[in-house]
Amino acid sequence: MKKKLKILALFDAITPTTVDQDLSAELLTDDWKTEANVLAALKELGHIVEHLAIFDDLDLLRQKLQSFAPDLIFNLADQFKNNRAFDQNIVSFLEMHGLAFTGCGSTGLTLCKHKGISKKILGYHRIDVPDFVMIPRGKRIARPKRLKFPLLVKPLKEEASHGISQASFVETDEQFRDRVQFIHEKLGNDVIAEEYIAGRELYVSVLGNHRLQVFPIRELVFREVPPDEPKIATYKAKWDEEYRKRWGLQNQFAEGLDPAVIRSIEQTCKRIYHLLTIDGYARVDLRLNANNELYFIEANPNPILAADEDFAQSAARAGLTYPQLIHQIVQLGLRTVRE
Ligand SMILES: Nc1ncnc2c1ncn2[C@@H]1O[C@H](COP(=O)(O)OP(=O)(O)O)[C@@H](O)[C@H]1O
Ligand SMILES: [Mg+2]
Repeated sequence: MKKKLKILALFDAITPTTVDQDLSAELLTDDWKTEANVLAALKELGHIVEHLAIFDDLDLLRQKLQSFAPDLIFNLADQFKNNRAFDQNIVSFLEMHGLAFTGCGSTGLTLCKHKGISKKILGYHRIDVPDFVMIPRGKRIARPKRLKFPLLVKPLKEEASHGISQASFVETDEQFRDRVQFIHEKLGNDVIAEEYIAGRELYVSVLGNHRLQVFPIRELVFREVPPDEPKIATYKAKWDEEYRKRWGLQNQFAEGLDPAVIRSIEQTCKRIYHLLTIDGYARVDLRLNANNELYFIEANPNPILAADEDFAQSAARAGLTYPQLIHQIVQLGLRTVRE
């Protein structure tokens, strides 16, 4: 028989919250569909579930931990004070308190959030990454001559394509300077500029701690984007339904990949997962060029878990119903050894 657990579902919020705030209206909106889906699944699995959303006040979490004393925290909090680079700090707090939680620990979150350090680690282990340069705020903006246009200029530590638009794709030093300056000054972020890898955009979902399951590969297709145009999962490409329709952008299962290529992608993704010390579950984003050469773009520990997003869709194709997937994530969270 499955053990009934006390589970605290931990969310982030973009405005201040209170400890017993009624979130029922939010949970009906599209923005909160992951939270709603996970809550429903945890209840369906028979657990005793409470939830808390935090904005910038860890004291709320302390209070809740005391009053509810959960066996496990289902961690869906991936920003703090509207800063998505603070996900690791929330988890550090849980680790310091010796609490069991789902998903990735602070080291994995830190390594993956930093788009430069993650690439240095993988490059050292001979996994292909785009050549890149990091330009922190305050440093002179210059392109190393070895970096060849076109380049993609991105915030160094961001998520969900914040700060990524068609203007991120640059072909001249002037465009390069302008975009770097924009990210420094308007977005308040350091910069990573990477060589643009033309190719198919693949998303690989991985579940596990030591033994890993790799689910069927998803792809973002750019059906109506002309062949010679850059194909980038910009902010609009991810979140603007109108825009997606206009350019024929669609997330689907990757078709027509050679079985040997699939096996090699799966192996590479497992190596990436371990090298970046990811726990729980993650989605690895890659580019595959016309010669079937695979490039790492980024790893997303704790990827969006909504039932209709890539991770759960891939798991479903592998035979896991949504509650079964949530059950596995819970079990992994209970078993993970955190230092
Ligand atoms: N070096 C690159 N070459 C080609 N496309 C890239 C490259 N880096 C990023 N992209 C495109 O931009 C998207 C967002 O970049 P990513 O680094 O994943 O940022 P985020 O963390 O915001 O998702 C990618 O999904 C891909 O479409
Ligand atoms: Mg990404």
